[in-house]
Amino acid sequence: MNKVTIDILLTNNIHICATAEAASIKVARVIADEIIKKRSLGQQLVLGLATGNTPKMVYQELVRMHREEGLSFQNVISFNLDEYYPLKETHPLSYHSFMNQHLFDHIDIAQSNIHLPYGEWDVARLGDYCKAYDQKIKQHGGIDLQLLGIGRNGHIGFNAPGSAFDSCTRLIDLHSTTRADAAADFEGLEKVPLQAVTMGIQSITQAKKIILLALGSRKADIIQKALREEVSAQIPATFLRTLPQVTYILDKEAAELIAEPLG
Ligand code: F6R
Repeated sequence: MNKVTIDILLTNNIHICATAEAASIKVARVIADEIIKKRSLGQQLVLGLATGNTPKMVYQELVRMHREEGLSFQNVISFNLDEYYPLKETHPLSYHSFMNQHLFDHIDIAQSNIHLPYGEWDVARLGDYCKAYDQKIKQHGGIDLQLLGIGRNGHIGFNAPGSAFDSCTRLIDLHSTTRADAAADFEGLEKVPLQAVTMGIQSITQAKKIILLALGSRKADIIQKALREEVSAQIPATFLRTLPQVTYILDKEAAELIAEPLG
């Protein structure tokens, strides 16, 4: 991968990179630096992870760093944002499968340090499992670094429009836009699960550092809204603007409605 990241710092916390690859490498570097910093202190890094198209190149670069630069994930504890519900862990489109395929199968993270909401949790005890998930994050001292993508409706995790700022991990109905975006992967809208378990806005915003990564012109409209429109539950990503610990890393296509294009 090209290691040169040409970026413009628009404000303290919005970085626009020339390409999706450069933006992804930048995010991977931040994650790697946090892992290394914690290891030098003899500590573990609690890392919040996302799925979807956006982080794929980030994970590819982290795997490369593991293979070629000896980056170790032995001091990483991971918590994923969400999982379709109900969906078998072994389903090829489960987020468990996604994470194994794109990251976990290729690095040295301990299996016992990996956490994801579970698409097979018993529905009768779902509320307890969701509470326990948030509790487990707290027991580990909270999330040190959370990686986020953004949905075209402004969702973070699967927190659809209308999600409250103080929402915790819970079962949520998937928004029609979200299901439509997943239809091609599932080979038909009717095969896309109707629900998901997602970390809540509160679970996400308590992270000590948050990186929102957005790539491609499909995200330009929602990035413009997330950064410029009134903060409200109608666009959950606007909540991030109220927090000092958020960094936005965008490629120039995703940033095309908020900045002059790079020359
Ligand atoms: C995935 C997640 C979602 C995605 C968002 C963007 O774990 O929490 O919020 O980040 O739907 O998806 P992509 O990256 O596929 O455009």
